[in-house]
Amino acid sequence: MTPHLTRQLSGVVCPTPLPMRASGTRPHRGQARPVDRTDRSTPTPASTPTPTLTEETRETMSATPTTTHPDQLFLPGQAAAPEGPVDMSMMYLMHHGFRRDLRRFAAAAEHTPADDSATWAALARRWDLLAEVLHHHHTGEDAGVWPALLERADEHERATLEAMEAEHAGIDPLLRSCAERLAALAAGGGTGAEREAARAALAVRMAEANQLLGQHLAHEETDAMAILQRHLTPEDWDRIEAEAFESQNGPRSCSGWCPGSPTGSPPLRGGRRSRWPARRCGWSGG
Ligand SMILES: [Fe+2]
Repeated sequence: MTPHLTRQLSGVVCPTPLPMRASGTRPHRGQARPVDRTDRSTPTPASTPTPTLTEETRETMSATPTTTHPDQLFLPGQAAAPEGPVDMSMMYLMHHGFRRDLRRFAAAAEHTPADDSATWAALARRWDLLAEVLHHHHTGEDAGVWPALLERADEHERATLEAMEAEHAGIDPLLRSCAERLAALAAGGGTGAEREAARAALAVRMAEANQLLGQHLAHEETDAMAILQRHLTPEDWDRIEAEAFESQNGPRSCSGWCPGSPTGSPPLRGGRRSRWPARRCGWSGG
């Protein structure tokens, strides 16, 4: 945490940290690499002499298929990008946008003068848009992603997936509370002391939302995305995206909010830039 953010969060009552795996899935940021599908469930003892390859064995080995996993997107602030067959770039880009906006809203609530109604009104409009996109993102996960994984998950994985939905439910009231407080500041009214008290209360809620969402996103990226990569194929994911996300992304949801921007995120690799930011968000620049 930067000293600046530490100052912003000082004095804030923060929620209990969400359970995090001590040594989560190690982010893979390197080049795509072939995956060895050889069965290693019964390791060869060190004392066992290495068998000589017969011609038949060589033919079998040469016919063994290898799979190349996509190079996963890994953006600043992201906790993990578990390796696997499904390209989760859009998910990680959305998370990047959520982190960026929550961080900026927390700073704005801290520093905007309490009687600057015009700025509070602009912040309230932007907050409503962010909250709508975030709500749709969580709703899509709850309706499409977690149920698909729960059908395939073991008991340990189920606990993580059920935690995802519970964490979404914990974030929603915070978002609503921030919206109400922003609207009150935009409306003005009250004494100077009352407006300053309202601003200070909003700053606490914004910092809490920033921290709670950050913990949830890290949990999701580290553990839930690893489960997803174990159980879904790219075809599964394309179907889930179409059913759970794209059908909900109405014109308002994405036309005015973009998770990546020329100044807000690093450039994306290769064809990804032209594939989905433009398709999903109407963003063709940067
Ligand atoms: Fe997500």
